[in-house]
Amino acid sequence: MNNGNEEKETKDIKGQKGKGVDIGTVFVKCAYTDSDEVIFKSQRNAFFEVEYAGFTITKKIFDDRGIKYVIKDDKLYVVGNDTLQFANIFNKETRRPLSNGVISSTEKEALPIVELLIKSVVGEPAVKDEIVYFSVPGEPLDADFNIIYHIKTLEGFLKTLGYTPKPINEALAVILSELADKDFTGIGISFGGGMVNVCLSFMSVPIFKFSVIRAGDWIDQQVAMAVDEAATRVSAIKEFSLNLSREKELGKIENALSIYYNDLIGYVIEHIKQELDKAGGGPAMAKPVTIVLSGGTSLPKGFAHRFKQILDHLKFPIPVGEVRMAAQPLSSVAKGALIAARSEGDNSQTSASNRANGSILERR
Ligand SMILES: Nc1ncnc2c1ncn2[C@@H]1O[C@H](COP(=O)(O)OP(=O)(O)OP(=O)(O)O)[C@@H](O)[C@H]1O
Ligand SMILES: [Mg+2]
Repeated sequence: MNNGNEEKETKDIKGQKGKGVDIGTVFVKCAYTDSDEVIFKSQRNAFFEVEYAGFTITKKIFDDRGIKYVIKDDKLYVVGNDTLQFANIFNKETRRPLSNGVISSTEKEALPIVELLIKSVVGEPAVKDEIVYFSVPGEPLDADFNIIYHIKTLEGFLKTLGYTPKPINEALAVILSELADKDFTGIGISFGGGMVNVCLSFMSVPIFKFSVIRAGDWIDQQVAMAVDEAATRVSAIKEFSLNLSREKELGKIENALSIYYNDLIGYVIEHIKQELDKAGGGPAMAKPVTIVLSGGTSLPKGFAHRFKQILDHLKFPIPVGEVRMAAQPLSSVAKGALIAARSEGDNSQTSASNRANGSILERR
């Protein structure tokens, strides 16, 4: 039974305090340190309703097997990684407590489910009022909602668990995780499931940040409509076999995926150009800016190359140096949030770069 995926990275660590948590539309992930390792714990941010007759036996077997669930108003919801197994057996779709990067307004049971999932990855605080940085999206440029309710609700859950919660922009977290060698200067982009988040930062200080509500889910839906297939099938092909460096002899679904990947990348770049424009044509950076790409939607082979091609085609207004993939595209937000937490816990008078980098040094 899947009780939470756990991955480890070896690190040089000073101290153990502080955690980072990425609360995404598709996954909830926590990064924390244990001895000389950074541990990533994740759960699928999903739930599945099962018929529940109130039998103690159901609860007992779920407890024995470590299956996470919430019971509310005579209903039982399996939550987290085990939802996939249940959805397959019952041949139905899982549901999600988040939609487009924020707590769903239409899923009534979203709150207790998100709370349980956060608790299961974050665990108990190591010390009283331990700092936890949690990722939040930027204000969406293409949708009419704000993120205040989302932030305050997550903050409340983490406080109840005994933490001192602090929000960090998702794309800034990517920059903290990936651009230490560039003094945390550059553009971080997280291509997620419900949103794409972007931040331009100068020495870890955001110049602008925003989100758009097109991302992996949008690609699945658009392709599904275009070729009249189920979105889950489209998503499976996208995740397991899409190769964006192939341009010829594509199947019908792959071809549609390639078209919508182009559209999404172009859409994001156009919004960055608009924000640069608003910021007076862009900051006068001394060096060409580095762009770092992360998130599940950036995983297909050839994604960075495709991004560069479209960037060249759309004539980006400021000089771009390197376009690079995050070292671990699915973990960089949680890791960046951990770096922020560790950096805050360190009271020495070192520079921002030394603080963030010295606390968690890669040994790759
Ligand atoms: N190998 C893969 N190839 C292509 N897409 C993938 C792959 N693995 C996951 N994805 C897609 O990535 C998306 C999830 O990415 P991620 O985990 O970064 O999102 P999230 O952080 O939970 O969501 P968000 O940031 O939008 O709130 C989904 O759309 C999923 O289909
Ligand atoms: Mg994300």
